[in-house]
Amino acid sequence: MVIYLLMMAAAFFGYVIVWGQMSFWGATVITNLFGAIPVVGDHLLSLLWGGFSVDNPTLNRFFSLHYLVPFLIFGVVALHIWALHVPGNNNPTGIEVKGPQDTVMFHPYYTAKDTFAVVVFMLFFAIFVFYMPNALGEPDNYIEANRLITPPHIVPEWYLLPFYAILRSIPDKLLGVAAMGVAIFVLFLVPWLDTSKVRSARFRPLYKQFFWIFLVDAIILGYIGAKPAEGMYLLVGRLATAYYFIHFFVILPVLGLVETPKPLPESISKSVLDNTATGKPA
Ligand code: HEM
Repeated sequence: MVIYLLMMAAAFFGYVIVWGQMSFWGATVITNLFGAIPVVGDHLLSLLWGGFSVDNPTLNRFFSLHYLVPFLIFGVVALHIWALHVPGNNNPTGIEVKGPQDTVMFHPYYTAKDTFAVVVFMLFFAIFVFYMPNALGEPDNYIEANRLITPPHIVPEWYLLPFYAILRSIPDKLLGVAAMGVAIFVLFLVPWLDTSKVRSARFRPLYKQFFWIFLVDAIILGYIGAKPAEGMYLLVGRLATAYYFIHFFVILPVLGLVETPKPLPESISKSVLDNTATGKPA
C-alpha cells in the first residue's frame, strides 16, 4: 500500500511539472484538498505551495519531489524483498505455506513469471507509445499553464479517476477528502478485515464472485471520475462509492464468517499429484 501511495504521488508530481493547463489546475484542485483539514489546513496549504497559490515555488519543489519519490519507491521495494525472506515465497496453487516444502524458489520461478508479465505489459504499453500517444492524455495539457483561464472540465489522469469519483460523490468537502483518504488507507486494513481462515481465492467460491464485482465497481468509478459530476453520473458515482466501502467493511468481514471454503490440499506436492492422477483441478 505504501508503494501504491508513493506511485500516486510520483505520478501526480510528474504531471504537474509538465506545467500545462491541466497540470496547473489539477495541482490547484488536489493541493486545495489539504485546505479542508480543520485548524491547520490553511497553514499547510501555504507551506505546500510556498506562496498563496500554485506558482513557481510549487513547480520547483514538485520537481524535486518528483525525482526523489521514485528513490523512496526503490527503497520500499528493497524492504519488501527483504521482508519476503521471512515467510518465503507463496505458491501458485494458493495453499497455506506450512514449511519450506510449500514455498517456491524466487529464481527461476518468480523471475520467469514476472519477466513474462513485464513482456506482456510492454506489448500492451507499446500500442499506446507507438500508435496512440495522445489517447490517455488531455488536449488541454498542450496549453501552457495560465491562472487566468480555468479549463471547463478538470480531470485527473486515468489512474487517479476512481479516487477522484469517490471524492466528488460526497457533497461535503472535508467528508469527501476523508472518504478518499479512507478509500486508499482501507487497503492497509485488509489483513484484519478479511476474516476468512483460507487466504487464497482459489478455494473461496463466493469471494471469487465478489472480487469480480469489486473490479467492475472500480472500473465504473473510473468512468464516472472522467464525467462531469451531475445527473445520472452523480447517482451512479454515489452508488459505486457506497459499494466500494461496503465491499471492504461489510462483505469482506461477513463473507469470511459465512462462506464454506473448498477443502485445502495438504501440500503443493499433493495438489499437483492429485491433479495428474485425476486430470481435475485439486
Ligand atoms: C515512479 C516513477 C515515476 C513516475 C510514476 C513518473 C511519472 C511521471 C508523469 C505521469 C509525468 C507526466 C508526463 C506527461 O504528462 O507528459 C512525468 C514527467 C516527468 N518526469 Fe517522471 N515519473 C517517475 C520517475 C521520474 C524520475 C526518476 C525522473 C528524473 C530523474 C523523472 C523526470 C520527469 C520529468 C523531467 C518530467 C517532465 C516531462 C515533461 O515536462 O514533459 N520522472 N513523470
